[in-house]
Amino acid sequence: MFIEVNSHTFHEEELLPAAAILQSGGICAFPTETVYGLGANAFDEAAVSKIFKAKGRPQDNPLIVHVADSVQLADICIVTPLAEKLIARFWGGPLTLILPKTDAVPRVVTAGLNTVAVRMPSHPVANALIRLTGLPIAAPSANLSGKPSPTRASHVVTDLDGRADCIIAGGDCEWGVESTVLDLTVTPPAILRPGAVTKEELAEEIGEVIYGTGVGAPKSPGMKYTHYAPSAPVYIAEGPDALERVYKAASGYQNPGILYYRTEQPHLPVSISAGSTPAEYAARLFYALREFDSRGVDVIFAIPPEAGGMGDAVRNRLFKSAGFKTIE
Ligand code: TXA
Ligand code: MG
Repeated sequence: MFIEVNSHTFHEEELLPAAAILQSGGICAFPTETVYGLGANAFDEAAVSKIFKAKGRPQDNPLIVHVADSVQLADICIVTPLAEKLIARFWGGPLTLILPKTDAVPRVVTAGLNTVAVRMPSHPVANALIRLTGLPIAAPSANLSGKPSPTRASHVVTDLDGRADCIIAGGDCEWGVESTVLDLTVTPPAILRPGAVTKEELAEEIGEVIYGTGVGAPKSPGMKYTHYAPSAPVYIAEGPDALERVYKAASGYQNPGILYYRTEQPHLPVSISAGSTPAEYAARLFYALREFDSRGVDVIFAIPPEAGGMGDAVRNRLFKSAGFKTIE
């Protein structure tokens, strides 16, 4: 089933067929403020297993459970005082918290961990859908495993058409990178994945916060090299003469592409602007990686944003998509 809604003016009734699919054990893609998610009833093991199958996702990578209110939250995790503080400031929004799980959450959701990732989105369609089902919704990003996360409905259709029971198209995602994942079961709290809620903002609220290496971190070094990866290889170029070095490296290719940021418009066959702020970069990054693929480039060069704030989230995804390859 395909349902198209206007995220600002939709009526809840338009989402009823999707809610029914989720309630009866189906899987449904839906927009959030970060990226599109592929959801299932978090209490239904068989339904959650369908997500892993549809995405080709390794079973040992746990899912985020999405909730619409604090009652649902209390069903699935232990809400610590630190969590309450962060929830008051940042929910609904792009912050996922790792907390001790309750017995109600099946092992398939958490990949056997005794913790669970939880978040409350700010996107009106996501929230309405969760409310209508009355269920916590387990949902990873709605891409095929290894591909860039979908930030537009067309990306979801490309990856999951025929693999999901339902796709809700609701426009482009506001943030464009996945939520910040913060582990509250360790001291000091550790960011496992940087996102739109920044380290600086978290520290303002709860004091010391560090970047952790992360559960669900790759078990073999090769795994991380296929994350967020378009078909063409990606190379990072940084520094004042980045563009000059890109031109030199690009001379060996037929159809090079560049994602440029705060430079003049490059003269390469496919040049895509990343905007002029880290937030604009985030909103365009995954779109751009997919666009390079569809324009058949044989290499992608990318000039990253500065570190700090949302720049950290963009750099994290960009360096992963490049397999940490840089041009000097
Ligand atoms: O913005 C988002 O977070 C999107 C939208 C759809 O909400 N979802 C998303 O899900 O990005 P996914 O599955 O692509 O990423 C979830 C991340 C993974 O890196 C996973 O390893 C981590 O969260 N994670 C989930 N449960 C965890 C746990 N119990 N402990 C540590 N990491 C966990
Ligand atoms: Mg993902």
